[in-house]
Amino acid sequence: MRAMMKTPHSDALVFFGATGDLVYKKVFPALYAMERRGHLQVPVIGVARSDWTIQKFRARARASAEKDDGFDEAVFAKLSERLRYISGDYGAPATHAALRKELGEAAHPLHFLAIPPSVFEKVVEQLGQSGCARGARIILEKPFGRDLPSAQALSATLHTVFNESSIFRIDHYLGKESVQNILVFRFANTFLEPFWNCNYVESVQITMAESIGGEGRGSFYEESGAIRDVIQNHMLQVVGFLAMESPTTTNQEAIRAEQAKVFRMIRPLTPEDVVRGQFRGYRQEDGVARDSLVETFAAARLRIESPRWNGVPFVIRAGKCLPTTMTEVLVMLKPPALGNLCPGQANYVRFRLSPDVTIAIGARVKRPGAELIGDSTELKVVSHPRGDEMSAYERLLGDAIVGDGTLFAGQDGVEAAWAVVQPVLGLVTPVHDYEPGTWGPSEAEKLAAGICGGHSPVWLLPPVKDGDF
Ligand code: BG6
Repeated sequence: MRAMMKTPHSDALVFFGATGDLVYKKVFPALYAMERRGHLQVPVIGVARSDWTIQKFRARARASAEKDDGFDEAVFAKLSERLRYISGDYGAPATHAALRKELGEAAHPLHFLAIPPSVFEKVVEQLGQSGCARGARIILEKPFGRDLPSAQALSATLHTVFNESSIFRIDHYLGKESVQNILVFRFANTFLEPFWNCNYVESVQITMAESIGGEGRGSFYEESGAIRDVIQNHMLQVVGFLAMESPTTTNQEAIRAEQAKVFRMIRPLTPEDVVRGQFRGYRQEDGVARDSLVETFAAARLRIESPRWNGVPFVIRAGKCLPTTMTEVLVMLKPPALGNLCPGQANYVRFRLSPDVTIAIGARVKRPGAELIGDSTELKVVSHPRGDEMSAYERLLGDAIVGDGTLFAGQDGVEAAWAVVQPVLGLVTPVHDYEPGTWGPSEAEKLAAGICGGHSPVWLLPPVKDGDF
């Protein structure tokens, strides 16, 4: 999948938003894993507003890395040595002057913006003015902008300081083994293609369920909400891989171009296509307005206006405080001629994207005995109980360090994805309450109307164990 790159390796890593949740949950574990593999050779500089000492910053890194099952003191000691910390306002020239000093001889720093999108532009401007952007790359964390116009404005700002080839837009779903496997399973097999279209596929359902609530990210989430946080990016990336035509090659441009074509063929959502929900208790979380109308759950019914997908609903739902944590795709085929021989689900292809990696095919076989009756079973194509060997962030950080943009989102695709959700951003639809631990507001069920097996959480039960079928 990777192109041979001849660009220089980054010689320093800088994290804006270094005391934040994203760095704690995803970046420190990735850095620790890179250190363990001997893949980290550069200083790591954290920048954040909090007035922390380097000791406090190291303690935060340790608390995160210690969650690794095989935590190793010697590995962490090496990582800890690399850490530096700068406190200051993200947009202040003094912060960037301090960063320039800390970078010392580094000629190709990699700046990672793990900060709210509202401060991206100030930081980019200051990176340019302070000289920290010279020879540098930049990683942006989604959402890229707040809507289509701001995404376009953001790209324009970035381009005043960075070339497009130095901009790495992280949608960590693209770095997930399970998501890449959708591509390989679709295009490296012959048997799927004949039925992968509206003649045989009845519906496609994608569920991204998380049992956690706001988890201290209230102020970030208030700027975002589920549509901006995961639908416009992670969920649409998955739709893109499921629905795209075969790329002519596996290089970055070809894959991104096919995905962007899918986004452009999705009919922009209307208020009738979307249901928003908010779990009870969200408004009491830190950083959340007491009268917030931000959604912690969103469901959407998409139509892809292409000959391949004509009339096939793609139903997505994503939410916090749901009964489980799991992301799954269910591609349901139309009922067979003798469907009445067997109750329950007909054929389907199921991709479990997390926490475990599974690809399974639902099939029916005759029940032993005198009667001509079938039972449903699943053929397990792949099943990794522990998910990825390498986390998405470890993979993507490693790629950005060497300048390989294959697994990053491109500007075209990002803008086309914003165009899909643009009409339903903000308060154009009501937000319905739901109880924590449920599958979101009941209003969402209407979006799955007419779908066989309709949006049922039955697909979100723990995976069938080997030997169960
Ligand atoms: C992030 C979202 O991009 O993805 C979070 O901002 C979400 O709200 C997270 O929890 C889920 O990622 P993963 O890899 O744990 O499924």
